[in-house]
Amino acid sequence: MAVKQYIHDNQDRFLNELLDLLRIPSVSADPKFKGDVMAAAEFVKESLEKAGADTVEVCQTAGYPIVYGEKIIDPSAPTVLVYGHYDVQPADPYELWDSPPFEPVIKKTEMHPEGAIFARGSADDKGQFYMHVKAFEAMMQTNELTCNIKFMIEGEEEVGSSNLDIFVKENKEKLAADVILISDTSMLSLENPSITVGLRGLAYMEVEVTGPNRDLHSGTYGGAVANPINILCKMIASLQDENNHITIPGFYDKVEELSAAYREQLNKAPFDEEDYKKKLNIDSVHGENGFTTIERTGIRPTLDVNGIWGGYTGEGAKTVLPSKAYAKISMRLVPNQDHKEISDLFQKHFESIAPESVKVKVTPHHGGHPAVVPTDSAGYKAAESAILEAFGKKAIPTREGGSIPITSLFQKELGLDPILLGFGLDTDAIHSPNEHYGVKNYFMGIETIAMFFKYFRQSSNK
Ligand code: BES
Ligand code: MN
Ligand code: MN
Repeated sequence: MAVKQYIHDNQDRFLNELLDLLRIPSVSADPKFKGDVMAAAEFVKESLEKAGADTVEVCQTAGYPIVYGEKIIDPSAPTVLVYGHYDVQPADPYELWDSPPFEPVIKKTEMHPEGAIFARGSADDKGQFYMHVKAFEAMMQTNELTCNIKFMIEGEEEVGSSNLDIFVKENKEKLAADVILISDTSMLSLENPSITVGLRGLAYMEVEVTGPNRDLHSGTYGGAVANPINILCKMIASLQDENNHITIPGFYDKVEELSAAYREQLNKAPFDEEDYKKKLNIDSVHGENGFTTIERTGIRPTLDVNGIWGGYTGEGAKTVLPSKAYAKISMRLVPNQDHKEISDLFQKHFESIAPESVKVKVTPHHGGHPAVVPTDSAGYKAAESAILEAFGKKAIPTREGGSIPITSLFQKELGLDPILLGFGLDTDAIHSPNEHYGVKNYFMGIETIAMFFKYFRQSSNK
């Protein structure tokens, strides 16, 4: 294929362009970066134009814009809608980065002997959506674009995609397509390529526990007045029992119980627990009794404290019985749990277990539904063929623990099952300091995407 040669011949430029994009600190969560998020949208617009899109629009929303671009080669040809996000997670804590998060550098690692790009957003999701822009350019330049293509690249994924929701509902015709392609997930490894067929949902809560009306001397009052941090810890601890089962009444009511055969199939995916522990420097894994690690992250819901604070956390010791304690708690959900229902169940339960000595306030944040995608669609088969050609191996279907709430939105509003064709690795440290993305993953991804178009067109001609 000429497209493969083109990708090869333009390797250095393809890499340098991505590095330029990674230099823009497009952190959507922090208003301080507003100008940079807008600059990233502009960068995406220009790169789509240069790659050969006919129309490119920066669509304004109540928040950050959605960059839309398209190339219609033939109205009767199938259409591929590409989704990605140009916003990134905050880079904090900066001091834990080995090199500045917005000054990309390429370094070899054990997992990436051919080099990985270290920068915030390299794997999530700039390096991944940009593969689609480059695959598009390569197909255009070699006359191998066989399907119509539409891009929808948003800037608020990391803060809940609330405006994308509205955009999708209002632009169904514009977004009409035969398949949606998303590269924002992981694969098992370059040796064991995989396609994600399930993502968990999310319910995210903030809780505030108030004790006395002011901070108190912990000697004068300690032992006689409820300490909201002590109470909060007890309340949180009670949310899981000795089997690491979540104790919120009704929490598991809608959880889909999968057949023994399905679970067996799922557990056949290559997974080395010793290696997993070694990479995280832990002596033991931990989770719901009766389930394997693959099941615990893929098909079981969970509850985690993401942050907890209150009282004195500065240098040295200050004796204080604080007035307030806080925590941010996330629950990862699986089919058929509903994130709004789960938020309600959490809120009722959390309020009900508070002792009379404190007051509790529960505030739900953004959430999202879980999603599963079928493996018998034309899109899945085209992705499988593309992986087989690029990697020489059959893709393993996997269910991942992360969440992309718009997956279920696309299913509901556009009636399409997204194909989750991601090329990151779980060890790429997304959302962490030293996030990185393999250079080889980047180029293999570009190649695989180009092949997807070829196979998707073939399947729709049949
Ligand atoms: N790309 C991730 C989701 C992801 C990560 C899927 C790893 C599969 C494997 C996405 O950008 C993300 O971070 N999603 C958030 C949820 C969102 C509502 C903030 C998440 O999963 O925490
Ligand atoms: Mn992402
Ligand atoms: Mn993310």
